[in-house]
Amino acid sequence: MDPSSSSRARRRVHSLSEQLIPSSMTSSARRRQHFQDVRARESQMPPPSSSSLTTSSEARISTTHAIIERNDALFWKNKEKFTVAVLGAAGGIGQTLSLLLKQSPRIKALRLYDIAPITPGVAVDLSHINTESEVTGYAGPDQLRDALVGCDLVIIPAGIPRKPGMTRDDLFKINAGIVRDLTVGVAKYCPNAILNIISNPVNSTVPIAVEVLKKYNAFDPRKVLGVTKLDVVRAETFVYGLRKDELQRLRKSISDVTVPVIGGHAGETIIPLLSQMTPKLSKPFEGSELQNLTTRIQNAGTEVVDAKAGAGSATLSMALAAENMATSCLKGLAGESNVIECAYVSSNVIPELPFFASKVKLGVNGVEKVLGLGAMTLFEEQMVKNAIPELRASIEKGVAFAQSS
Ligand SMILES: NC(=O)c1ccc[n+]([C@@H]2O[C@H](COP(=O)([O-])OP(=O)(O)OC[C@H]3O[C@@H](n4cnc5c(N)ncnc54)[C@H](O)[C@@H]3O)[C@@H](O)[C@H]2O)c1
Repeated sequence: MDPSSSSRARRRVHSLSEQLIPSSMTSSARRRQHFQDVRARESQMPPPSSSSLTTSSEARISTTHAIIERNDALFWKNKEKFTVAVLGAAGGIGQTLSLLLKQSPRIKALRLYDIAPITPGVAVDLSHINTESEVTGYAGPDQLRDALVGCDLVIIPAGIPRKPGMTRDDLFKINAGIVRDLTVGVAKYCPNAILNIISNPVNSTVPIAVEVLKKYNAFDPRKVLGVTKLDVVRAETFVYGLRKDELQRLRKSISDVTVPVIGGHAGETIIPLLSQMTPKLSKPFEGSELQNLTTRIQNAGTEVVDAKAGAGSATLSMALAAENMATSCLKGLAGESNVIECAYVSSNVIPELPFFASKVKLGVNGVEKVLGLGAMTLFEEQMVKNAIPELRASIEKGVAFAQSS
């Protein structure tokens, strides 16, 4: 599916309805008033007689009704708002992500949790922003329960980031325990919440979270997602950079570019499916250009780690990617249709791997459907084969850690 086409359709319907609504109220009050007026008028109208209506006026009325029905549905659907917690909210990703989430009309309560004492201060700072969600801060394990009770979505960016020369797996020693302990909190205090795990190594932290949830009888495979969206964001950015001229000739902007990225979230397990990118281009990526682009997408995290020279890894682009992912999860929860993202989830797409990143369809319970891999080139198939041993080892390491602790 093309998520942008549904939002374009929504914008079109919205602007049509705006033309029908008086302008002296806030937009939601205007919309509500309009629906009430239309219903009141409808209830007073005599039933239409075929002789008094021309075919074109019938068509006009039925089109107007269709628009009103669709607007009504969107209005009430969009009224559903959610409670979201960010665990690790005082960090580089956590603070920026919280700032982005504060601007979401889908969130009624934003809970910021971290072990850092500054966290309640970060929440006070954000709470002065003039959007409707309420922000509260929680610092330290004694307050984890209050941060989590009633949450619909929990996002975990807690943990240490990479320094130059480190692999994501080097973070395992510290981040494994952090993700384990925070997931215990989720299992106890909001077992029905959807979990978005950002903390690295994602290829292992997701299996850790799943094992913890199993221990507490709180595991639902639809609700645990490793956030690999940054790989997609990077792939789309780099592809646009290389094919800007043709895309501009096609009148496509960077936001029209889609590139699925599958596998996992470390080095060669990051597998961009460039053959499946949209829009289709006259000259596909091949040869050394394909190899260089693939390598750049796989090493983009290291590009940032090296450029920050010891002061951390990607935070700003990661926060944006996490916000995109969270928004898609909330759209799914709200019952919106055709919400597709790439994420690292429980999967049988590759029979020998219990977890794999692929396109998933999001719905009211989280992952509604794990989508297949689609037609791949030989180059892409080979990348999948090459990634299997590393993914298997990372998964086994995570599972063993969680089972032994
Ligand atoms: N999935 C991805 O694509 C991706 C991309 C970039 C970074 N990351 C990962 O995200 C994580 C965070 O990165 P960052 O740059 O924000 O790091 P950071 O050091 O800036 O922030 C981490 C925060 O976690 C907090 N924290 C530590 N232990 C905690 C605990 N037990 N409970 C709650 N909070 C705790 C710290 O106090 C800190 O505020 C790292 O593991 C990093 O590797 C993932």
